Amino acid sequence: MAGKIPQHFIDEVLARTDIVDVIDARVTLKKQGNSHKACCPFHNEKTASFNVSQQKQFYHCFGCGQSGSAISFLMEYENMHFVDAIEHLAENLGLSVPREGGDLVRPHNESKPLYELLDAVSQYFQQQLKTHTPAIEYLKNRGLSGDIAHRFGIGYAPDSWDALNKQFPERESELIKTGMLKTSDKEGASKDRAYQRFRDRVMFPIKDRRGRVIAFGGRVMGNSEPKYLNSPETPLFHKGSELYGLYEARKASQDAGNVIVVEGYMDVVALAQHGIENSVATLGTAANQQHSEILFKIVPNIVFCFDGDNAGRKAAWRALVATLPALQDGRDAHFLFLPDGEDPDTVVSSSGAAGFNDLLSTRVPIIDYLYEHLAADIDMNSIGGKAQLADKAKPLLNTLQNGVYKQLAYRRLESLIGISLNSGSTRPYSPRPLKQSPLRKQRDEGLTQMSRAVLIVLQHPRVVACLEGEKEPVNTEIRGANILNQLISDIQAEPTVTTAMILERRRELPEYGHLSRLAIRPLYPDGRELDDDSAVAEFKHAMDQLRKRSDRKHSSQVDQSSRRGLLSRRRSD
Ligand code: UTP
Ligand code: MN
Repeated sequence: MAGKIPQHFIDEVLARTDIVDVIDARVTLKKQGNSHKACCPFHNEKTASFNVSQQKQFYHCFGCGQSGSAISFLMEYENMHFVDAIEHLAENLGLSVPREGGDLVRPHNESKPLYELLDAVSQYFQQQLKTHTPAIEYLKNRGLSGDIAHRFGIGYAPDSWDALNKQFPERESELIKTGMLKTSDKEGASKDRAYQRFRDRVMFPIKDRRGRVIAFGGRVMGNSEPKYLNSPETPLFHKGSELYGLYEARKASQDAGNVIVVEGYMDVVALAQHGIENSVATLGTAANQQHSEILFKIVPNIVFCFDGDNAGRKAAWRALVATLPALQDGRDAHFLFLPDGEDPDTVVSSSGAAGFNDLLSTRVPIIDYLYEHLAADIDMNSIGGKAQLADKAKPLLNTLQNGVYKQLAYRRLESLIGISLNSGSTRPYSPRPLKQSPLRKQRDEGLTQMSRAVLIVLQHPRVVACLEGEKEPVNTEIRGANILNQLISDIQAEPTVTTAMILERRRELPEYGHLSRLAIRPLYPDGRELDDDSAVAEFKHAMDQLRKRSDRKHSSQVDQSSRRGLLSRRRSD
């Protein structure tokens, strides 16, 4: 197993790569002042709001909010994994990627044979399908055409313990690594030989976003259990971060502006059979935030489709909670509940695409579903009930990113409970509006001093690095001070660092998302650019304020302890 790629190497790749070249090779850029511009490759637009800054080595779209380094760009645009993106940039620079632990392993070379093997296995299963009449009959009975089966690469795993071993001699260890063979079990196979995991099953290859086969799901044709068997977690396959059918559904989803998330392999395939090509399925797990993030990078709207039964409702609520933090202005999600006992496959099979589309028009916006679900067991005619709704809704609404979407979601709550939660607006029924804490308000309306300081460090690292007299760390009792102090000491140690490098070093840390947002956010509400001189002035001002605050904190501590001292002295008097 290869170790991690050392941070210094990632830094070096970023320092030697020019993001303008990387992007310009894929999206033609036009130089305009300090920036290079284009129509955004991540959303549809007619005016160029996609900006690439050579100085920051960072891109940002003012339209859809996408941003990042050259590494992020490759990950988003080319659907590369992080390691692939670094590998690709390193290759352009003629560097090989070192791994922690010393050895010079090229990660690409390590997993490449596994991808090739699974591709060959998938071809083999498809070949097997051609000569296995019961499997062909099974698929036909389920309404699938040869074309669709071919499009999804559906195949058949022969009823054998060792057909794969024979088909791919010399590759047993890789077949084990990719989950195609198992080594020990009680099922009756010989103990010392690896044997096939999938036997006598219809095989659905699971592809990654680039179309490479990374795993399989296999369905029995009769009634035996388990109905579906899936590849285990392997170096290529992490089921929580993959979606079945995404590779096939990408283009249709972009054209439709939305993607439908369903529960089963067969649902995806059956929908496609009826011309509904924009659906994907989770892999036997609940939809998580990563799934939503992946999908929102492709489409602005996700439709989650669930059975109308209890299990479906439960799964829907989990999907809702996971999706709220991924929502932002320009993105939306809906929920579709099917009649009890139906799934998308049975709906299209019995009433065609039109039947499914009729149901689709009953989908509920995510925020409506949120209130509907929360209010289900509350008496909304009572004061206590309304207060209870607000109490339950607020923690969820607070996971939304700040913006118009969040404001509208709050406004809906206000109309449901009949009072205004904000000061300033009309509040017909409210004798005493719920108060917003000053801190909260500041966060909603503008940036805290801490965020202002961090924003300037991120966006103008070289300017801050040159400042004398700003080396004093800020009192770590102030929220965010640890991060700010760390950022300042980093850039002072290395004044040539870019915005892209600062962020890439923190990709794995919890604050990465927050810092990424600050890296692109304008300091001034009117969106005006911050030049170097104002950056200096604003930074000094923010730091002054933070230091004053830490003095106040400090003196109030001194106050308290001296008062405590006084009291104890009195007591001992
Ligand atoms: P379903 O049983 O709803 O699948 O399980 P389906 O697609 O409608 O199956 P058909 O129509 O009977 O062929 C939904 C998903 O849950 C996972 C699979 O990913 C399946 O697609 N699952 C289900 C399993 O992993 N194992 C099982 O035994 C059953
Ligand atoms: Mn089904």
